[in-house]
Amino acid sequence: MLLYEKYTPYTLNGIIGNSEAVNQVRKFSEDAQKGKSKPILIYGPSGVGKTAAARAVAYTNGFGLIELNASDYRDAETLRKKLLPAVTSRGLFNKTSLILFDEIDELSGKFDKGAENIILQILAKARQPIVFTATDYWDMRISFLRNKVEKAYFKPLATREIMDYIKKIAAKEGKEIEDKTLLEIAQRSNGDLRGALNDLEFAFDSAQGIMDCIGTRNRKLEVFNVLDRILSTNSFDAAKKAFGESDIDFEMLMNWIDENIPNRYAPKRELRNAYDTLALGSRFYEKAGRMNYWSLLRYASVMLSAGVSVAGEGHSRYVAPYSFPARIKYMSATKKSREKTGSIAKALSEHMHYSRKYIITEFMPVLKLIVGKEVEKQGKDAVISQLENGLGLEKEEVNMLLPQG
Ligand SMILES: Nc1ncnc2c1ncn2[C@@H]1O[C@H](COP(=O)(O)OP(=O)(O)OP(=O)(O)O)[C@@H](O)[C@H]1O
Ligand SMILES: [Mg+2]
Repeated sequence: MLLYEKYTPYTLNGIIGNSEAVNQVRKFSEDAQKGKSKPILIYGPSGVGKTAAARAVAYTNGFGLIELNASDYRDAETLRKKLLPAVTSRGLFNKTSLILFDEIDELSGKFDKGAENIILQILAKARQPIVFTATDYWDMRISFLRNKVEKAYFKPLATREIMDYIKKIAAKEGKEIEDKTLLEIAQRSNGDLRGALNDLEFAFDSAQGIMDCIGTRNRKLEVFNVLDRILSTNSFDAAKKAFGESDIDFEMLMNWIDENIPNRYAPKRELRNAYDTLALGSRFYEKAGRMNYWSLLRYASVMLSAGVSVAGEGHSRYVAPYSFPARIKYMSATKKSREKTGSIAKALSEHMHYSRKYIITEFMPVLKLIVGKEVEKQGKDAVISQLENGLGLEKEEVNMLLPQG
């Protein structure tokens, strides 16, 4: 379970910050208990507790929870089906259910007035408590709600609030993280507590050594920063600048972006465009290296940064936490043996006049079989000395070729 899931608050008292707005929600909750609540719209940036607050109202009052999200807003039919139990459940179980329209500004209202109408009907008729959440109160797609709901603004949390909170969590988890790092995480989060918790979790991992291959923790924060500015800004300039100013290795960044596009982009079209652009960028990158034509890097870097950024069409969606590129993990886990393989291939290529790549992919597997057979025939020591003397291999290299076990 992810850290932010583990520590998700189940009551309004557990929601950090935004005391005024949380009090509004508290009032809503009390009214709902009496069966006379006016629908409320909780809006504000990502990761500040909007959805958590709405759910907390249901949990603390013992209400059922009917939760709708972006994928339910595609068309009227999907929405109607999902809402059916909301309208009938009271009759069946005599239990109040809170209806939560999460991220209502994802409504495709422009193309399908039907969904909008259903929501208006529910607002007019339903007696259940209703909560909406959205990022932007002024989004045109939800203008039809404006005079029908109370509104509560959850603003970005203060660095101090985040710092205190993640410090507590780190202590609860029994992890020692330096204050300096905690502060950096808090500052970097821009008031997004979920983001901060994800970074904190990564800092935990780093304590366990995963960071080895990219250096310090700060290094990783730097990577996250660049990723944010590429995957979350939808801004050509900001993304390009972030990429240009960072001194993180080109290929490394490419791996991080590759790995994390699906953690921020959800719609298929965005995913396709982002990967298209990334692929094109990486072709420029390879060409630049192969032809020694380094000015091509210009295009590669614009594609990877600004190109990928504008492939995301709206405000960034949080799909999953940033993840560590599988490829880098693999590369670092196998670093030792890859180095050895490389040096064996080098020695052999001098004898055989084949490329190292050919030797690694085509010849080494066969060589290992041959060595195995020879060991059976002549004994280990004889084979070792032949390999050492005949091919000039080092002891450890020879070991790589011997049958294991
Ligand atoms: N104010 C807060 N107090 C305590 N925990 C919080 C707060 N804000 C966020 N969190 C943590 O972050 C997680 C995500 O919060 P939540 O889902 O409520 O964000 P949100 O505001 O709905 O964001 P989004 O707009 O991305 O949906 C929660 O499960 C919780 O662990
Ligand atoms: Mg939410």
